[in-house]
Amino acid sequence: MKLSAAFSILLDLRVGIQAALLPTLRAIMASPSLIFRPAALSRSFMANLWISFGKGVDENGRAVKIQLITPHAHGVVLDIGAGSHGHTVKYLDHDRVSKYIALEPNVLMHPQLREVANAAGFRESDRSLLILSCGAEDTESILSSIGSHGNQPTVDTIISILTFCTIPSPESTIKSLVNEVLKPGGELLFYEHVLSPKDDVAWWQTFWTPLWTRFFDGCVLDRPTHIWIDNLLSGENRNSVWHERNIWGKEGEPEENLFWHRVGRFVKN
Ligand SMILES: C[S@@+](CC[C@H](N)C(=O)[O-])C[C@H]1O[C@@H](n2cnc3c(N)ncnc32)[C@H](O)[C@@H]1O
Repeated sequence: MKLSAAFSILLDLRVGIQAALLPTLRAIMASPSLIFRPAALSRSFMANLWISFGKGVDENGRAVKIQLITPHAHGVVLDIGAGSHGHTVKYLDHDRVSKYIALEPNVLMHPQLREVANAAGFRESDRSLLILSCGAEDTESILSSIGSHGNQPTVDTIISILTFCTIPSPESTIKSLVNEVLKPGGELLFYEHVLSPKDDVAWWQTFWTPLWTRFFDGCVLDRPTHIWIDNLLSGENRNSVWHERNIWGKEGEPEENLFWHRVGRFVKN
């Protein structure tokens, strides 16, 4: 990998820090105890960072999302790590989606998330919108908040846009979400940056992860998320959990890229 490409991440880091530093300092001045609460501090930083960073990232993935989300998301939709800007809800076809469940553990993002979802026609007052503050790993809370009877899978579509890179225990969390939350026949749609198939790029991804993760709320650069999903098995016979599986790349994206994306549409058996 060319050194210029390997070190380009420092520019992203600089832009992110520049955008989030001042508002985060203001938050500390308003509530000095934040200094002693690293998790809350990191969430404040990420919420501020995503205000300026998220828009460009969304623009960058727009073509992919129109192709992935709009024609396929249907019924009850669970958006994992919804963020604050409705970067998923605005791609939903309201005629095909009965309920939008936005799961976002960073509660600082909720007011704006609610506003954007309302503007897209999803409201808590008519139960077409539900905002959850638990993590994706907490499938029990997800199911009980949705009001699933006997904890049966009740979600028709799970969407993860640039979130599986951040969740804790990703392999077991993805497995639980698919096995316990997604209905048979339901779809998992994802757009994620993942581990590169090129050894040198993968080396740099692992090299930068400890630094990157510190500023980007736990985001990890070298997860083979698409492979974990593709290989999901179920039942005693250990058959594939999928009836249909499709993974593709982002048009025009160079392979020598620390943020190498994969797009996936999977239909559960
Ligand atoms: C890179 S942002 C992507 C946001 C949004 N999907 C978008 O496309 O704009 C990752 C999101 O994952 C959320 N997140 C962090 N930990 C999480 C967890 N354990 N479960 C679900 N989401 C989480 C973050 O708060 C953040 O909003």
